[in-house]
Amino acid sequence: MTKPTDHLSSNSPDTNTAIAKIAFIGAGNMARSLIGGLLKQGYPASHIACSDPMEASLTSIAAMGAVSTSTSNTDTIAAADVVILAVKPQVMREVLTPLMPMLTSKKPLLISIAAGISCDSLQNWAGEGVPIVRCMPNTPALLQVGATGLYATDAVSAAQHKTADVILSAVGTVVWVKQENELDAVTAVSGSGPAYFFLLMEAMQAAGEKLGLTAEAAAQLTQQTALGAARMAIESDVDVAELRKRVTSPNGTTQAAVESFIANNIEDTVEQALQAAFTRSQSLAKELG
Ligand SMILES: NC(=O)c1ccc[n+]([C@@H]2O[C@H](COP(=O)([O-])OP(=O)(O)OC[C@H]3O[C@@H](n4cnc5c(N)ncnc54)[C@H](OP(=O)(O)O)[C@@H]3O)[C@@H](O)[C@H]2O)c1
Repeated sequence: MTKPTDHLSSNSPDTNTAIAKIAFIGAGNMARSLIGGLLKQGYPASHIACSDPMEASLTSIAAMGAVSTSTSNTDTIAAADVVILAVKPQVMREVLTPLMPMLTSKKPLLISIAAGISCDSLQNWAGEGVPIVRCMPNTPALLQVGATGLYATDAVSAAQHKTADVILSAVGTVVWVKQENELDAVTAVSGSGPAYFFLLMEAMQAAGEKLGLTAEAAAQLTQQTALGAARMAIESDVDVAELRKRVTSPNGTTQAAVESFIANNIEDTVEQALQAAFTRSQSLAKELG
């Protein structure tokens, strides 16, 4: 059986026996979640390091296992094969610029999970020739049930590609895209997607209450229905259109509701919403770059 650590080799495709040393810059929510996921998969804590200016954030990371921590970004990345940038987009330039000499000399794999920062900007701030993987995770990654889109620059080797895949798989499903601009579509579908489902759930809960249920009952039924529908979509061997047909009996209650949604242009509404998110993602990238 393949172990999660089997693919986490060092940068050279020829050295598959070594386990990559991973350095996290930023000890916030996403770093905690990724480190938690990696440790759960059996990744050795001795191969994980993390830096953050706040001692308190580092203490909570250290409490997760024997992960080494430091307030110095330079010390933390010194021996790293992989550097994960888990800081807010607004501080990315000030984080990377002082690290440029070390990054360009050692060329570790740089993985950015920051929304909206392009590979061009990352390359400018990190230095020429540094291999970069840019990711767009979503909030459920904090519970290790996220969906992440990833894009790799040409300098990323096959082994580094696998390494990034395994690291982000520690917090959920991963999907690779071939063009960087597809990450704007990933943002529109899964990056912002949890909020669309929360909005639908809010509306279902409110409608359930209007139909006479208590708030608690409406919430419980809505939440479990969302979970059940998602699990059916993931685990079934047919697509969601077929699943919908199978639960829609002719002249039944589901048909009445689905016809009402369609009459109210649900498809156009969703398309316009995702287009708005896509356009906003493109303009945010310009602002942040
Ligand atoms: N949370 C999500 O659901 C989610 C989803 C998709 C993408 N992302 C992306 O993931 C990244 C991290 O998000 P997050 O939610 O984990 O943010 P966060 O909780 O704010 O974590 C960022 C951490 O970086 C630290 N930091 C700030 N300046 C630093 C520096 N110069 N060197 C080292 N560390 C520094 C911050 O410390 P201080 O608190 O002291 O500033 C904070 O502990 C963001 O770029 C975000 O766009 C997050």
